[in-house]
Amino acid sequence: MKPRHFLSLRDLSSAELNGIIKRAIALKSLQKEGVIYEPLKNKVLGMVFEKSSTRTRVSFETGIIQLGGQAIFLSPRDTQLGRGEPIEDSARVLSSMVDIIMVRTFEHSKIEKFAQYSSVPVINALTDLCHPCQLLADIQTFVEHRGDIKGKTVAWIGDGNNMCNSYINAAIQFDFQLSIASPQNFEPSKKILNRSKKHIHLAATPEAAATGADLVVTDVWASMGQEHEQTERIKLFRTYQVDETIMQLAKPDALFMHCLPAHRGEEVSDNVIDGAQSVVWDEAENRLHSQKALLEFLMGINYE
Ligand code: CP
Ligand code: NVA
Repeated sequence: MKPRHFLSLRDLSSAELNGIIKRAIALKSLQKEGVIYEPLKNKVLGMVFEKSSTRTRVSFETGIIQLGGQAIFLSPRDTQLGRGEPIEDSARVLSSMVDIIMVRTFEHSKIEKFAQYSSVPVINALTDLCHPCQLLADIQTFVEHRGDIKGKTVAWIGDGNNMCNSYINAAIQFDFQLSIASPQNFEPSKKILNRSKKHIHLAATPEAAATGADLVVTDVWASMGQEHEQTERIKLFRTYQVDETIMQLAKPDALFMHCLPAHRGEEVSDNVIDGAQSVVWDEAENRLHSQKALLEFLMGINYE
């Protein structure tokens, strides 16, 4: 039987995604109560990282250990993948030994190929195209603070990047409105924007996007792999900072999120990220709980 993969939020149904969020909240409570729960005893998670990471690495590694399993960290510097061994060969070999694999890489086509040849579930831990694991944590965080996100309005302000693409998928799957404000030529691709006219709206300015929003989200102006564009992008994105003026246009109880790492003084002002509406630390912590729920789901653990 073909394994289920999580390469994008589109790989799971809305009901399955909502189930994972609910389960993430329950697993968080169990962990806070000190309950030992090890359904993945003796299972091994392979972790392939071709880009840097703090949150993703630590949350996956901690998550699998808490569930009773183990993790193996694999970087291109010390594996044959980094010396050009074909992706399909690496996927076949790794998946013959470990039980589940997460991959952080550049081109999305690479993870698609990896998944095609893997005999075990593959999780997208960020590609240039999308970052679905982060969205599980973001939705969990919203639900914990404000209840169901269905029918709410989210403002995305900044680069039309991998995180923005995942917000587009999330808007469709979790049924909320997404208003996107990106500088000219930095909007998400038309193909992705056109996935749902009902959920996605391109705003003319950051102010227009933020007005009346329940949640305001941003991300770095230059993603991993775009460091050489940083100076140029700072100039082009200058008017897209999420600051107090932007937050005041949102609903009075609006939340602020950022997947982190953040560049204070660029995409977000100090007083917003460190202010009362910011839930970025809960959002980061929830990477652990939501990915534990995802690991359970993909490994077919039945907890009901
Ligand atoms: N948000 C996120 O994925 O962080 P890391 O790059 O530290 O994993
Ligand atoms: N857009 C950012 C997200 C980092 C978690 C990047 O790809 O670098």
